[in-house]
Amino acid sequence: MTSTAVQPLLRLDGVELTYPNGTRALNGATLEFYQGEFTVVLGLSGAGKTSLLRCMNLLQKPTGGAIISSVVGLLERKARIRAHRRRTAMIFQHHQLLPRFSALHNVLTGRLGHHGTLRSLLPLPQADIALAFDCLERVGLADKALTRVDNLSGGQMQRVGVARALAQQPDTLLADEPVASLDPATADKVLSLLRRVCQEDAITAVVSLHQVELATRFADRIIGLAQGEVVFDGPPSALTTQVLGIIYDRRAADAASAQQHPEPDQSGLAASSSRPPLQEHQS
Ligand SMILES: Nc1ncnc2c1ncn2[C@@H]1O[C@H](COP(=O)(O)OP(=O)(O)O)[C@@H](O)[C@H]1O
Ligand SMILES: [Mg+2]
Repeated sequence: MTSTAVQPLLRLDGVELTYPNGTRALNGATLEFYQGEFTVVLGLSGAGKTSLLRCMNLLQKPTGGAIISSVVGLLERKARIRAHRRRTAMIFQHHQLLPRFSALHNVLTGRLGHHGTLRSLLPLPQADIALAFDCLERVGLADKALTRVDNLSGGQMQRVGVARALAQQPDTLLADEPVASLDPATADKVLSLLRRVCQEDAITAVVSLHQVELATRFADRIIGLAQGEVVFDGPPSALTTQVLGIIYDRRAADAASAQQHPEPDQSGLAASSSRPPLQEHQS
């Protein structure tokens, strides 16, 4: 590697997460994320997608491994975690907006992390209001700035969520099933918008989805999770039927393989614990 090699913006080094009840949600995830990359995380319900995204901004502290930001450093101490969170926006399936407040007010909350607690009690600077309007304009909702969020459609609410994330001026955006509650046509529009704004601002996006078709259409890179393990990491073009079988039906595939090959496995597929991830990603 030369000194001019591009550094990953965020690096996960053997990240493990075991919840207090003993559930192992992440089993040694080692991943690198580069600036401007649009990554989609696919996996069955319970595969660990939410756990991965929550670990990536330390909303959930990993129980093993390390997360390193190229800007902030090793994410361990509180001050560094705070600095990392300021640079990392979140978008949620149920948008988590303040329903009784205007779209503009909601977008302005994206600015709060940039101000101290005392400052946030004072009127917001004009520059923040101008930025919030600009963000609403970018998601096509300038005319809804003063409309209460609970009077907006589901798609419009999620676009407010995107505008709020943009107002944070993040370098990383984590979106957990952002279009799962939307009808297919609206999901398409919101995801296309999300991809466009991330590209415009060179934001590193990591988005969990359950629609393979959307993933292959919008992602630069797809990460497949199964039972807390990264089982695929590559471009959409490498997402073959066989790979999808591994991502979506690993348990069944493993059970079938164990039945067919009770002795040492001769199928050519590694057993689940020793199967290496299909690493096809090169950045
Ligand atoms: N707070 C929690 N406490 C205990 N187990 C949890 C908790 N959150 C998630 N899990 C478990 O961790 C695993 C991964 O869950 P999750 O990350 O939510 O997966 P996904 O988002 O892919 O559906 C699942 O087995 C789930 O039941
Ligand atoms: Mg989830």
